[in-house]
Amino acid sequence: MNKCFFIYFLITTSFAFAAQETIVEASDLTSDNITNTTQQNNEEFTMSNDTVNIGINKKNRDGVVEILNNILANEYILYTKTLNYHWNVFGMQFHDLHEFFKDQYEKLFQNTDDVAERVTTLGGRALGTVKEFLNLAQIKESTTIPVAQDMIQNLLQDHEFVIQLLRNGLVEAQEKYSDAGTSNFLTDLMEKHEKLAWMLRVSLKKGK
Ligand SMILES: [Fe+2]
Repeated sequence: MNKCFFIYFLITTSFAFAAQETIVEASDLTSDNITNTTQQNNEEFTMSNDTVNIGINKKNRDGVVEILNNILANEYILYTKTLNYHWNVFGMQFHDLHEFFKDQYEKLFQNTDDVAERVTTLGGRALGTVKEFLNLAQIKESTTIPVAQDMIQNLLQDHEFVIQLLRNGLVEAQEKYSDAGTSNFLTDLMEKHEKLAWMLRVSLKKGK
């Protein structure tokens, strides 16, 4: 009888510990802990993968990775917003804008991929969850469906914000962190956004 009770005690105690562990893991995912968790993940990832030997010390690479992940988060939100407009645009110009937004979101997706891979090239962890993107990005998602002209205006403003972010980032990468490769990469990316912004800007001009 005592032996049976002992086995029962062991089983119930094991379940209790397992449940407690699950609760702790779930609580780690609350929004208050996102920033700390991201920083901790980045530090742990860098410590276990710091085999990059390209003439830029780890402190400088960490600084550049931070710049790049902020750009990545904004690129991803802008990509999602453009995709949203591609799906939901309406009115007389539906077909043209539907295709126009498709061309833009495809290019933005390529940008997000390029930025993420620049992060990993430098030995960092590319942000890869929507929660992290939303937490970090300054660009806000569209929660309503605006008319076509406002869609174009919103996207133009967001591209202009990204262009300024890139302009600051390319200078900081070179002057503060001595990373000519990232500075050059961000310069090319800025030119791509300038072209996308131009296409949006001229679409807002009234024809005769
Ligand atoms: Fe589509």
